[in-house]
Amino acid sequence: MIPVRLTLDPAFRVGPVRRRTFGSFVEHLGRCVYTGIHDPAHPTADADGFRKDVLDLTRELGVSTVRYPGGNFVSGYRWEDGVGPLDQRPARLDLAWHSTDPNTVGVEEFMRWARLAEVEPMMAVNLGTRGVQEAVDLLEYCNVRGGTRLSDQRRANGAPDPYDVRMWCLGNEMDGPWQIGHKTAHEYGRLAAETGRAMRMVDPDLELVACGSSGVSMPTFGEWERIVLTEAYEQVDLISAHAYYWEEDGDLGSFLASAVDMDHFVESVSATADAVRAHKKLDKRIHISFDEWNVWYQHRAESRPPSGHDWPVAPVLLEDRYNVADAVVVGNLLISLLRHTDRVHSASLAQLVNVIAPIMTEPGGRSWKQTIFHPFAQASRYAKGDVLQVAVEAPTYETAKFGDAALVDAVATWDAESGDVALFAVNRSLTETVTIEVDARSLPGLRVVEATTLANPDHTWSATADDDTSVVPRANATATVRDGRVSVQVPPVSWNVVRLGV
Ligand code: AHR
Repeated sequence: MIPVRLTLDPAFRVGPVRRRTFGSFVEHLGRCVYTGIHDPAHPTADADGFRKDVLDLTRELGVSTVRYPGGNFVSGYRWEDGVGPLDQRPARLDLAWHSTDPNTVGVEEFMRWARLAEVEPMMAVNLGTRGVQEAVDLLEYCNVRGGTRLSDQRRANGAPDPYDVRMWCLGNEMDGPWQIGHKTAHEYGRLAAETGRAMRMVDPDLELVACGSSGVSMPTFGEWERIVLTEAYEQVDLISAHAYYWEEDGDLGSFLASAVDMDHFVESVSATADAVRAHKKLDKRIHISFDEWNVWYQHRAESRPPSGHDWPVAPVLLEDRYNVADAVVVGNLLISLLRHTDRVHSASLAQLVNVIAPIMTEPGGRSWKQTIFHPFAQASRYAKGDVLQVAVEAPTYETAKFGDAALVDAVATWDAESGDVALFAVNRSLTETVTIEVDARSLPGLRVVEATTLANPDHTWSATADDDTSVVPRANATATVRDGRVSVQVPPVSWNVVRLGV
């Protein structure tokens, strides 16, 4: 059994656990909205057509913010189509996903759903086919109390109080040649700056997110952030990061080390933002909104949009089925986001339902949890107080994609008030059980509250509508504490949570 040593110390504080780290994303894409969150024919549907079973699962997942309405979809979206009487809403072509959007769900429905789901809405504006005016109009519709045409229209549509949306994404993935209205960094940086400036004239306290790169592998990565922030630094608060290129393509060792790549992404964007800050001689720091991240098997057939004359409503798209190894990677990516809590102030698991999602539904039928549901729900529930950097002494292994990776990766949170500690750890070994020894002597009096492990001898096991409970986090009886030293055995390819209390 391989020994691994971790050290926990409240002096290694990175920053507070941010609820917004546990955000997700609802896009008009495939069956995320229609037959996902919204399915009027479903037996649990409420008067607005929202599935109560999906609402329950969303709350159980512990989602904090939900980004809406896209994604690539937003870059061709006319938000006005999705407000007002349902029978007057137009069906429109969705160019991004070669689908038809009936506009049965729009801003109003989403805001009602967000309230029921107990999540904070995070809106994106269209800077692909539209610009400053339409962004300001949507903001007026959402956040102005009344007395203007658009705010009064909202009131007339049944929402007397403003939605008071705080976080706004200035477009989506504008660096991507696939994006409708794709722009150069200079073009986008100027547009983001002017849109942000005008939006702040309406509401100075907004938190604005500029588009960063759609991935570290983009040819413009780094330079894009530098130029966009040079143009828009004063007008924005956060820059986005999106990453999906992690998938198991026959090299499980590299796949399990995907968080090394996320660490690199966050650290590179932070360094670039700080370089612009130095150049501009400003105090303000730009933080990261990692507002699309997940494992995504992009090359599989289910990710191919319809084509030709076929423009379906809510087609089956991007409905990836996740296995146990995927869940371990998702858990590890959460570890990476948490350990960067000083720079990552918001994040969104993409997406919430059906589309590369932790929650799956059958139209009119059952809903169920994918394997990736569990690490997210546990991290969201148990990460409290401050994030502690964990010193890890572990053997490393070589990966083809991300260089050397430690066999174990971990982060901890510590709630000074209650004394509760949560240790989140993954074992990346393909074959070996690891004994993790944690030196926690600087946090005296700890005892094990609960230890759980998500693993399976067959790491390719996936949940289905018939069986989503055979592999879930199970009690790990090996966890002990003696003289301030915690010990726990963790099996190969596993996600582990050790909860300690005084
Ligand atoms: O989440 C799926 C898609 O991935 C989003 O629409 C887009 O922003 C990204 O490329």
